[in-house]
Amino acid sequence: EESKLGVKGLLDSGLTSLPPFFIHPPETLSGLKPARPSSDPIPTIDLSGCDSGRRPSVVGEVGRAARGLGFFQVVNHGVPAEVLDRTIAAVKAFHEQPAEAKARIYRREMETGVAFFSNLDLFHSKAASWRDTLQIRLEPKADMEEIPEVCRSELMEWNQQVRRLGGLLMGLLSEGLGLNSGRLEELTCLETRVMVGNYYPYCPQPDLTVGLTSHTDPGVITLLLQDQVGGLQVKHGDVWVDVTPVPGALVVNIGDILQIMSNDEYKSVDHRVLANPRREPRVSIAVFCNPSNRENEFGPFPELVSSDTPAAFRQFNLNEYMTRFFKKELEGKSLINYF
Ligand code: SIN
Ligand code: FE2
Repeated sequence: EESKLGVKGLLDSGLTSLPPFFIHPPETLSGLKPARPSSDPIPTIDLSGCDSGRRPSVVGEVGRAARGLGFFQVVNHGVPAEVLDRTIAAVKAFHEQPAEAKARIYRREMETGVAFFSNLDLFHSKAASWRDTLQIRLEPKADMEEIPEVCRSELMEWNQQVRRLGGLLMGLLSEGLGLNSGRLEELTCLETRVMVGNYYPYCPQPDLTVGLTSHTDPGVITLLLQDQVGGLQVKHGDVWVDVTPVPGALVVNIGDILQIMSNDEYKSVDHRVLANPRREPRVSIAVFCNPSNRENEFGPFPELVSSDTPAAFRQFNLNEYMTRFFKKELEGKSLINYF
């Protein structure tokens, strides 16, 4: 019953130190305050004009970023600033409702495609994390009636924006591999979309826990809208690099399936979120884009495989992939290791 309160609920009940359940093991905590490189290696890419003369240079930048850190930010992406603000505000409003309203959709099973849950980490659960989550299957569509009214119309609008911008990005990423613009979309890579609306409340002991443990994203690409609070970090060799919030920007990162399809050219990179030390809560909205056809075989694009560049991964179908993903045996290791 307690867990239905979420982390925010615990905090509102007056807690000032972390319940033991949230305290992470030393191997997770030891690297929380690393030295950081002085320059920001996560590029911000201007998408303006990418349907005309600037396209080749934009494709070049996107391809370089995807081959490098596997993370980049985009500006002039065509989503109006008001829509970004409204989407963040709607997810924030959901999490700031009375605990009872959220508890009504608290569930660990996703039968309706809408769930509020907290702290138990999807990727490996050695300890709980300082975060609450609203998860919604955008496509194929969840039961609309189940989506809390406080954010329903905003999230439907967000789904449309992600559909459009996701298509644009998949075109650029396909071309960055020397493939036809429509190659990723042909393989249904944008058709399954799951959203997580994260809320990272103030953490009284941010050195003892995390907001989200280190992981790679399993899907094709992730589109992330974050507010200006910060806390997301990407692993760059042995150091963790901040993904500094850029006003009006969206963060894009490569997932495991795209690393595989690109025959190891694009990189799916470890990232994490620090527990939030500030009084101001942090809100982020990630949409994970995945293929919809579970029976299709996926693997490196045949166009990218040659005697010089042999297939770095074997073929698999998504049923096998998902089964492995949800198995405990993964223990935080990237799926890449299994194909
Ligand atoms: C994620 O890795 O899914 C999102 C992280 C964030 O909240 O920035
Ligand atoms: Fe992630």
